Amino acid sequence: MIFTGSDILSVEQFDRSDIEHIFQVADAMAPYALRRRVTRVLEGAILGNMFFEPSTRTRISFGCAFNLLGGEVRETTGFESSAIAKGESLYDTARVLSGFSDVICMRHPQEGSVAEFAAASRVPVLNGGDGANEHPSQALLDLYTIRKELASKDRGIDGLRIALIGDLKYGRTVHSLCKLLRHFKNVQVTLVSPAELAMPENIVEEMRSVGHNVVVTEDLTQSISNVDIAYSTRIQEERFASKEEADMYRGRFRLNQSIYTQYCEPNTVIMHPLPRDSRADANELDNDLNQNPNLAIFRQADNGVLVRMALFALVLDVVDQVDKCARDVNWYNSARTL
Ligand code: NCD
Repeated sequence: MIFTGSDILSVEQFDRSDIEHIFQVADAMAPYALRRRVTRVLEGAILGNMFFEPSTRTRISFGCAFNLLGGEVRETTGFESSAIAKGESLYDTARVLSGFSDVICMRHPQEGSVAEFAAASRVPVLNGGDGANEHPSQALLDLYTIRKELASKDRGIDGLRIALIGDLKYGRTVHSLCKLLRHFKNVQVTLVSPAELAMPENIVEEMRSVGHNVVVTEDLTQSISNVDIAYSTRIQEERFASKEEADMYRGRFRLNQSIYTQYCEPNTVIMHPLPRDSRADANELDNDLNQNPNLAIFRQADNGVLVRMALFALVLDVVDQVDKCARDVNWYNSARTL
């Protein structure tokens, strides 16, 4: 695809070479994310960061990625602090805010809303999550993490064995990740969820149509016993009709160190898009996994900055200028690693 000036709304936009290109650019962002070098390549540029649903990681990570490239961030969070609460349409909001910004990131509870906004925007729009539909930057950072974790074992993404666990119906991160996995060969995907929260059938069919082996089950321990990656997700309670309905599923699939030791192959990587629900009745990934070196959840979040820097650099067409606008940092640099 041509990245320059493009919206990033869905992972359907990418083919395998696009994905590899994004990852290559993300790798090159490491000195900046690690604070060894500073670049001012986006000096003067403004990101409009608009998050109409709760977010910690995605919002801050998009903002930090833009700052690390030298740009400024203007932000609005929640409907109540925006004119949408006064009845303003997405069209008008997009026309106005795109006059103030060079690029916009947006999260919104309605499926398709970010695309609607992008159609009216005068600058590129990146989807930070639209309802239960898609979360392209998260899926890219998840796949980038999978690639990195497997590379340390001399493996690639082709031939991957992965279990996706939890709310696969409303979880937009796993929808986007499954769509990305179609571009790789021989992937074995085990979908572990309550039957009512199963992965949408069209996404399962699309994976099967490229030859992937997709198993659908409600059995956690069996499904994590022969995978490279166990990817857990949160019950997306904000998408249920009532909290009581969501509560019926909370805590159904819990992973802790003793289950890990008993059932997983050595060095199975544990992932989660975060936030993990650590309340006692959910406890998706127990805190006793925190010392497990295969718990990759915080490496995922770190990798998100690299991938989002890459997306900005590509969309704003500055990839070749990043290093030319750089110098060493002035300040004491703690021993940060990725
Ligand atoms: C996810 C999301 O918002 O879809 N969070 C994130 O962006 N890392 C997953 C979730 O909220 O459960």
